[in-house]
Amino acid sequence: MTENDKKLIAEAKRVREFAYCPYSKFAVGAAVLGASGEIYGGCNIENASFSVTNCAERTAIYNAVSAGEEDILAIAVVAEGPEPVPPCGACRQVIEEFRIPHIVMANLADEVKEMTLGELLPGAFSAENIIE
Ligand code: THU
Repeated sequence: MTENDKKLIAEAKRVREFAYCPYSKFAVGAAVLGASGEIYGGCNIENASFSVTNCAERTAIYNAVSAGEEDILAIAVVAEGPEPVPPCGACRQVIEEFRIPHIVMANLADEVKEMTLGELLPGAFSAENIIE
């Protein structure tokens, strides 16, 4: 784990406190590292219409993209659980879209797992599959 990974986990833990999760009560925090060196956090934001919920990973990625980051180097996700929490399928597709090469998962017991993009979503559908 790199020093940047540690910073990302710390930021993910910090913003996890802001999670809006009245339905699941499952608070998640995420943070991404932009090529500029800036770190962007995001939490999960639920909705009474459950499917409208935004996961922490997507909140963090969209936060970075909205700030003008064109390249995202890494993402961390943190939640409480018996093992590091893995990104859901929808978030894997978004992580693929922005080609984030390094994914770090952690729980509050500081257990950590690392994955590459290829490990996270093998055989992904991506821009190359769209024939114009
Ligand atoms: N959730 C995330 O924010 N990230 C994940 O990787 C898994 C799930 C959120 C969505 C929902 O608000 C709650 O956790 C329970 O599924």
